[in-house]
Amino acid sequence: MSRHVSPSILAADFSRLGSELEKVNNSHADWIHCDVMDGVFVPNISFGIPIIESIRTVAEKPLDVHLMIVEPERYIDRFCSLGIDILTVHQEACSNLSLALQQIRRNGVKAGVSLRPQTPPEALADAIADIDIILIMSVNPGFGGQDFMESTYKKVSDTKEMILKSNSGALIQVDGGVNLQNARKLYDSGVDILITGTTVFKSDDPAGMIDKLLKV
Ligand code: DX5
Ligand code: ZN
Repeated sequence: MSRHVSPSILAADFSRLGSELEKVNNSHADWIHCDVMDGVFVPNISFGIPIIESIRTVAEKPLDVHLMIVEPERYIDRFCSLGIDILTVHQEACSNLSLALQQIRRNGVKAGVSLRPQTPPEALADAIADIDIILIMSVNPGFGGQDFMESTYKKVSDTKEMILKSNSGALIQVDGGVNLQNARKLYDSGVDILITGTTVFKSDDPAGMIDKLLKV
């Protein structure tokens, strides 16, 4: 079992993106999570390729990019060429999940797949050999600052069981409403990586909050 934190830049102050990124650089965070939303797969639009290119020039942590877009296959190669570490697509958005994940891996990038709260882990069974990261949404994707869904713990432990049974090395991320109250139980359920926006960036001391989330 491993413990990692990937702060979501969606909750940062975009008018001061450089200094917000510096706070993460000077912390024990393992990645910087970037949420790309297209206004179609989710009812919100966030940012895309030019912003990630700029983040890349300042970030000293590897980038973990979460695509909440339809037909992500069309953009896989372009996102992978930005020098990112993880690219995550939604299971619900892919017409052939295994092919999409293989395309990500061919670019030398870790292949992630995300599930909406309504999608069961079994939806990943056929593609498990192609997955490096499973991102379990603990809110409906589209917005930061929502309340954590309690049904997530069971979904995490079911996912962990599937990973162990299939001899996969996939890591589990949870994204949405993560805070100091639910972090411990999430790790105990099998989560490896906590993604958290509001809890980190709205804190007075983001680096200190990341340490607390790692040691909770
Ligand atoms: C939601 C995004 C999350 C979001 C998490 O669709 O995928 O990464 O930024 O934000 P918080 O931690 O504020 O719920
Ligand atoms: Zn996300």
